[in-house]
Amino acid sequence: MGESSENIYSMSKQNKELPHRERVDSRNTLNDLTGKEWVYALNSIELTEGDSELLTGEQINDLSLEQWATHQSPLIDMCYPTSGEHSHAHHIRKKHPSPKPPELMKRLIEFFTKKNGWVLDPFVGVGGTLLACSMAGRHGVGVDLSRDYLDLYHSASESLNFKPQTVYQGDASRLDQIFNQKNYLFDLVLTDPPYGDMLSRKRTGERKKRTGDDSPTPFTTDEGDLGNMGTDRFYEALKSVIVQSMEFLKVKGYVVVFCKDLQPTAEHHNLIHADVVSALVQIPNLRFRGYKIWYDKSMNLYPFGYPYAYVSNQMHQFILIFRKEK
Ligand SMILES: C[S@@+](CC[C@H](N)C(=O)[O-])C[C@H]1O[C@@H](n2cnc3c(N)ncnc32)[C@H](O)[C@@H]1O
Repeated sequence: MGESSENIYSMSKQNKELPHRERVDSRNTLNDLTGKEWVYALNSIELTEGDSELLTGEQINDLSLEQWATHQSPLIDMCYPTSGEHSHAHHIRKKHPSPKPPELMKRLIEFFTKKNGWVLDPFVGVGGTLLACSMAGRHGVGVDLSRDYLDLYHSASESLNFKPQTVYQGDASRLDQIFNQKNYLFDLVLTDPPYGDMLSRKRTGERKKRTGDDSPTPFTTDEGDLGNMGTDRFYEALKSVIVQSMEFLKVKGYVVVFCKDLQPTAEHHNLIHADVVSALVQIPNLRFRGYKIWYDKSMNLYPFGYPYAYVSNQMHQFILIFRKEK
């Protein structure tokens, strides 16, 4: 859609004569969603485009009650293409161990910001967030320890003919130094941190059998990489990056953090999302507001534990939502 037709579209969404659910409320300082779009965005499960159309009731269909119930399942697939034009240069971004689909980040950005809003990702990797900013007409700023990942972001962005967003190489726990004299004021912090020493642990079980490789695969070898830290240091480091990010976040701006749980052990439940919430709510002025769940349908199912014990395939990630209150 061209710039001018987009303007016409957003102007028509403002039109006071439209029913409330079809227009953007004049009190809405957060985003450009109509009343109806807002309601569907509150679903704690991220819906695919196809399913959300179905659920809006705009599509008349022939589903039996049973089929309908299947469509309403709380675990709805979000299978993003990893090849072809809708993969958003996945062939370049896949050189990173865990790139996020730009389409998914775009949905979050469109809920938590308005057009031309500013988004910070302090653990930006190969830039899923930044590509999403380009797609959604927002300004993105990303930080990563690794120059290689930032270069891959630039290659992906260039191959898509997107305008490059701003990136900085450095340790996100020193944002004040990285941004130097810049007076950034972000509307949203959206990020996908590395989780403890999760990736640098030796691979075991199915994965080792499958790849034949048990060597650790950290994001970087840098000491400041949160992915290389033990649990206690990790939570302190994560808190300090979020505190720093909040220095550049507007009041009532949201902090949205991805998180995946680990398998439980005898020592700990490993519901990492609960521990992340407990750690981050210690930050003054940051309040936990809820979560969404992303069901990553592109993951493979493995018969872990077969035929002896239940071992979950963790196909979903938590999207933890916080707000800077003052
Ligand atoms: C899970 S990945 C983010 C992937 C990203 N969402 C994407 O789409 O590519 C986490 C990233 O954090 C970076 N990182 C780890 N510790 C960091 C730190 N202290 N400062 C900045 N970046 C860091 C790693 O290099 C890694 O690329």
